[in-house]
Amino acid sequence: MEIIKVKSYRELSFKAAQFVASQVILKPESILGLATGSTPEGMYAEIIKMYQNGIVDFEKVTSFNLDEYIGLGKESDQSYVYYMQEHLFNHINIALSNINMPNGLAKDIEKECLEYEERIAKSGGLDLQILGIGRNGHIGFNEPDLKFEARTHVVMLDEQTIEDNSRFFESIDQVPKMAISMGVKTIMHAKKIVLLASGAEKAESVYKMIYGKIIPELPASVLQLHPNVTVICDEAAARLL
Ligand code: F6R
Repeated sequence: MEIIKVKSYRELSFKAAQFVASQVILKPESILGLATGSTPEGMYAEIIKMYQNGIVDFEKVTSFNLDEYIGLGKESDQSYVYYMQEHLFNHINIALSNINMPNGLAKDIEKECLEYEERIAKSGGLDLQILGIGRNGHIGFNEPDLKFEARTHVVMLDEQTIEDNSRFFESIDQVPKMAISMGVKTIMHAKKIVLLASGAEKAESVYKMIYGKIIPELPASVLQLHPNVTVICDEAAARLL
């Protein structure tokens, strides 16, 4: 694991955007794995600036998002498909047909999971996967105690995740309890992984991810076994390192 400590969230966002841009510049038909949440918002803003300045072109890029709430679709401003449109897709030239998100409104969710995984495999696999990390050490929505072997699957969200994500909803009761998420195995097959962590509340899970035992109770710890992981953390998230 390569650990990059930066001073601020701004610097983290810029560094992360540089990783994405250099991936796409070196391989214009890259397959990108993308994340949502607060942490990558700044990175997406930087990527948009780079696109507008003609530094990077997304015409041939294909994207796969990590996860989506079950029951939410693009009409809902809390869905991840809505988030991605707002924060990135509406502002760059990625082809609509190259954007892949798990469909939280699919009638047959199990089938949706299988097909999503198949689409990733058929694309040739993820070249670069961007990750955040939960306070409980989750990656994607792979919550503590889930097996490392999982591919794209249905997850029950942890109490802590529901509480953490309630900030995006009017009340905690509105947070969906289930989601579709790429599995740990799907994530581990990515050729390169860049994990972003910002803020003091992530310091403990970041420490355990890097120095702790590799256990499903701390899903991100499995990244110690991946040959090409870069962790970018700001000062607060790197506090215990
Ligand atoms: C988002 C995702 C989650 C988040 C994590 C951190 O697609 O899969 O694992 O990366 O919950 O979220 P933030 O960045 O909001 O702290």
